Amino acid sequence: MSFPVHSFAAEKRRRAMTDANRMGIDDSLIDLIVDNFYGRVKQDPRLSPIFDGVIGERWDTHLPKMKAFWGAIVFSDGRFKGSPVKTHQGLVGVTPDDFQIWLTLFRETLEDLAPTPEAKVFLTTRAERIAESLKLAMFCRAPKLSEETRQTA
Ligand code: HEM
Repeated sequence: MSFPVHSFAAEKRRRAMTDANRMGIDDSLIDLIVDNFYGRVKQDPRLSPIFDGVIGERWDTHLPKMKAFWGAIVFSDGRFKGSPVKTHQGLVGVTPDDFQIWLTLFRETLEDLAPTPEAKVFLTTRAERIAESLKLAMFCRAPKLSEETRQTA
């Protein structure tokens, strides 16, 4: 007796594609949202110097990377290869409040460009969750025990 070979990853991708279609999200919309969002970031007095300091002239590689990141989230197809936690842990001078600014710009972008309410909720919720986990990784590291504390603990 033979069983059909099911690929979990393929099924996940198929479902993601169905959901994306239902929400009205495709690759060209992701391109539009990412371009528009980082256009806002570049105009923000607080975030713009942070991004400029790190990215400088490399926007032509950062934007395709961010399109791949959001594409991977929407389509579950693993097209993004990166380490966001490590990358953000390496940023200097970013505060938790900066994430509020980031999320406000992201919400405003979706307010203007989301094709359906479902797309707006989906993308906003993902961004909020990822922002929370990045903040945890960046700002909530357990303090190192001193040598003395380690010996008496
Ligand atoms: C105040 C908030 C944030 C700041 C200042 C910030 C800044 C940056 C900068 C400067 C880079 C480029 C690093 C490099 O190329 O060396 C970067 C990369 C990235 N950011 Fe953020 N970011 C913020 C929040 C977020 C959030 C909320 C998300 C996701 C929802 C996100 C997703 C990413 C991803 C996926 C990359 C590429 C990571 C990689 O290459 O491994 N960022 N960010």
